[in-house]
Amino acid sequence: MSKKSVSWFSPELKRLYKYVTPHVGLLFLAAIALGVNAATSSLIATLLGKMTDLGFYEKDPRIILAAPLTLIGITVIYGLSNYLGDYWLGLASQKALIKIRGEMFDRIIRWPFASYQHYTTSQIGTKFMNEGNQALAAVTKSCVMIVKDSLQIVGLLGVLFYYNWQLSIVMLLMAPLLVSAMKFISKRSKKMVASNQKTWGRLIGVVQDAYTANKLVKANDAYAIEETKFNEVNRKIRTEQVHLVKLKAMSTPMTHVISMLGVAVVVSVAMFEAQQGLITVGEFITFLSAMLLMRDPLNHLSGLNATLATMSAAATSVFEMMDVKPEEETGTKELSDMKGKVTFDHVGLTYPSASKEAISDFNLTIKPGEHVALVGLSGSGKSSIINMLPRFWEPTSGKICVDDIDYTQLTRESLRRHIAFVTQDIVLFDDTIRANLAYGLKAVTDEQIYAALDAAALGDFVRQLPEGLDTPVGEFGGKLSGGQKQRLSIARAFLKDARILIFDEATSALDSESEHKIKLALETVTKGRTTITVAHRLSTIENADQIIVMENGRIVEQGTHQSLMSLNGRYAKLVQLQSLA
Ligand SMILES: Nc1ncnc2c1ncn2[C@@H]1O[C@H](COP(=O)(O)OP(=O)(O)O)[C@@H](O)[C@H]1O
Ligand SMILES: [Mg+2]
Repeated sequence: MSKKSVSWFSPELKRLYKYVTPHVGLLFLAAIALGVNAATSSLIATLLGKMTDLGFYEKDPRIILAAPLTLIGITVIYGLSNYLGDYWLGLASQKALIKIRGEMFDRIIRWPFASYQHYTTSQIGTKFMNEGNQALAAVTKSCVMIVKDSLQIVGLLGVLFYYNWQLSIVMLLMAPLLVSAMKFISKRSKKMVASNQKTWGRLIGVVQDAYTANKLVKANDAYAIEETKFNEVNRKIRTEQVHLVKLKAMSTPMTHVISMLGVAVVVSVAMFEAQQGLITVGEFITFLSAMLLMRDPLNHLSGLNATLATMSAAATSVFEMMDVKPEEETGTKELSDMKGKVTFDHVGLTYPSASKEAISDFNLTIKPGEHVALVGLSGSGKSSIINMLPRFWEPTSGKICVDDIDYTQLTRESLRRHIAFVTQDIVLFDDTIRANLAYGLKAVTDEQIYAALDAAALGDFVRQLPEGLDTPVGEFGGKLSGGQKQRLSIARAFLKDARILIFDEATSALDSESEHKIKLALETVTKGRTTITVAHRLSTIENADQIIVMENGRIVEQGTHQSLMSLNGRYAKLVQLQSLA
């Protein structure tokens, strides 16, 4: 093998081997089986020659029965060892792979908020399919292949030299030519395979986008745009695949021609020797079979370098993803009971990708059980404030306290346990209504679920469904109306029975009737709980204890509905604008 930039002991591959080491036992078994396999192939070559001599020249009658039986016997051993070797290998690699994929998944769902902006879903998906499966399965395979093929080559070379060392030397002189031709082909095709996998990832991305955006595509008559995007990737795949097919189709005849070149030279030398009476026909057959049997292992070994390159690329890609730091747990304090006091103390937030602050010098104290409403134009920072409460984002300056404890000292788990959250974008799983509502909660009864649904003005709708709580909601809740989806996520928050309730434009998709119902329900549900709402329609937050008016990430007005109205400032203007609408 030539020295290339990738080595068998590069850091990423060493790290990869760690996943295989627990299964060395299996690899060892596989190596034994494949060793037996290699030995039988040498034996076949030897036997073919022996039988020729015994059967055709010495005309031994026993050979007529013995020859086929031996051949069948050896082939059975050959097949069995091949099967066991492959099976144990596959077992070992799947055991390693299940661990790798599991770790990939564990890491991904624990990433900090900011990291999800680095990869698209289809990029992550293809990582699981390609790197997390095919590419890495090559590890165990190539480890054992090296053993098996080397053994086989050594065995066959032994046979060759034993029978005729002069001929062997002639043959060895031809070998480099063969090896370099095979290497050329396998290197090209591995490179194509890697780029082809990337293109498949892009194809999945394009299909996914067009599929989920089907309404937008239809409404904007954007079929041509999507088709152009798709055709470009689709064509790229065709070009790459045709290239691959060409390489593959070329490689077999090419190696055949080249190896036949070797065979041709050796054959003529051998025939010359046979005519001189230097070797028997049987020896000649043995020699020829051994030579032909060596082609496959040589082929494998010459392709190993390219496999190595693919493997190390896959390992790098997987580990890069695994090494994204999970949310760092700074907190040690457990908050088993929470009163629900929240203090923002000179809080500032600058997003990693932004150059200026989204939130500046934000100060606010929310007493336990208080209802605070955030209002302001879109982009004024309302969601940013809300997303900091469960520590999705953390303040880049200042601090947030919960029950007078700096919340970075609390464990995330105990903080989040006390917070129920309804976000602007509704998250529903492709599962039943019950599963969506009770998500992450332990032991909730149907009564409790219906109570939450009633509070969210959805109980009657679910009751009249033939399957009731077992009705599937469809992908992204596609079988429900926008308002029903919102009410479902509100019911989910009610069900959590948390000290702090957060609603970020949770009622924006509702008609005024259901909004009114929910407003009434909120008054009961939020009693005694700290509640923060961002509402589109200002009429829904008139009763809030404090109304915070935001502009460019800052508080510009603060007070009750009454006091802000009499102030006749920005809030009054917003209210006026809405009543006109
Ligand atoms: N994940 C993010 N990365 C970078 N900038 C963001 C991110 N989320 C929000 N912003 C920016 O922060 C500002 C406030 O946004 P947001 O809090 O969502 O406003 P609101 O909820 O009041 O409409 C906006 O300028 C927005 O572009
Ligand atoms: Mg928002």
